[in-house]
Amino acid sequence: MSSWKGLLETYKEFLPITDETPILSLREGNTPLIPLEKLSKEWGVDIHVKTEGTNPTGSFKDRGMVMAVAKAKEEGSKAIICASTGNTSAAAAAYGARAGLRCIVVIPEGKIALGKLAQAVMYGAEVFEIQGNFDNALEIVKLISEKEPITLVNSVNPYRIEGQKTAAFEVCEQLGRAPDVLAIPVGNAGNITAYWKGFKEYHERNGTGLPQMRGFEAEGSAAIVRNEIIEEPETIATAIRIGNPASWTKAVTAVNQSNGKIDMVTDEEILEAYQLLAQTEGVFAEPASCASVAGLKKQIESGEIAKGSTVVCVLTGNGLKDPSTAIDTITVKPTVLPNSREAFLEQIKGGVVS
Ligand code: F0G
Repeated sequence: MSSWKGLLETYKEFLPITDETPILSLREGNTPLIPLEKLSKEWGVDIHVKTEGTNPTGSFKDRGMVMAVAKAKEEGSKAIICASTGNTSAAAAAYGARAGLRCIVVIPEGKIALGKLAQAVMYGAEVFEIQGNFDNALEIVKLISEKEPITLVNSVNPYRIEGQKTAAFEVCEQLGRAPDVLAIPVGNAGNITAYWKGFKEYHERNGTGLPQMRGFEAEGSAAIVRNEIIEEPETIATAIRIGNPASWTKAVTAVNQSNGKIDMVTDEEILEAYQLLAQTEGVFAEPASCASVAGLKKQIESGEIAKGSTVVCVLTGNGLKDPSTAIDTITVKPTVLPNSREAFLEQIKGGVVS
């Protein structure tokens, strides 16, 4: 078994690493690319999911955060700050703790999943909830980082994009080439920007080809699709409840250059994909992640994604991040039984042995 040393060590030559950069790591990256056998057969495309929920804090944010925090440390910063819908704050808090930096996170009140909040407080971040949304929080932390000696670690920090592009390298290595289509959820639009940069750099070096980039916003927060800022974004997929994406123009460039598209999916379509993935493939990803699979289904049906294509859907975060949505979505609840073998046998008879 080879021992994985994390992203900074593995992809040094592609990253802005100097002799002074600390090789920070929680052994992030190297996430599985899992073929979806049943859905591939049913939908007539070759589907693989990049399960970013297996990263140390349970989302793709660890890739960008390890790079951004290492550079903050290298530059002598003592504190980091971010706005977040939850996952960025979890990753910032973990890598901040690891690097010995003060970590301040600003989140929209009542609109982040329980697991993510638990992570931020557990890793010892200073957590502030604002009575506003993510876009408002981002404005605030941008201002603070301009005035105070505190490093901003949202994806407007270019080191975040550098770290996140490594996921595209891994996809090319795991498939042996770039897929025909890369389907990805879009919130603040940093990740789609990072993947496109990663695919281009890897192709230049290794001739692995370029995918069509297909990004999916939630319908109630679809600023790029509607080409207007959404003042009050809404969606059950709280991770991508964003109405004014910071990397808007870069995302549009990525889809234009790759002959792809930014599209949107409804909350119903997201929840359908969420359950389908768990119940037919054994893969539990958080709701926002499932926008990629919901979008794939939509565009196979519309004919925009051709049958026979090789598709990678990015599953950005772990399903356990958001236990409340899981419990609320599934109407069948556990059956309560008395503490008796007879009662149990009676209950399951006929259901298990065929
Ligand atoms: N999926 C998940 C699970 C996310 O947490 C995010 C973003 C996205 C997709 C969208 O990625 O913003 O690069 O387009 N979460 C950020 C956060 C905003 O604060 O955790 P994006």
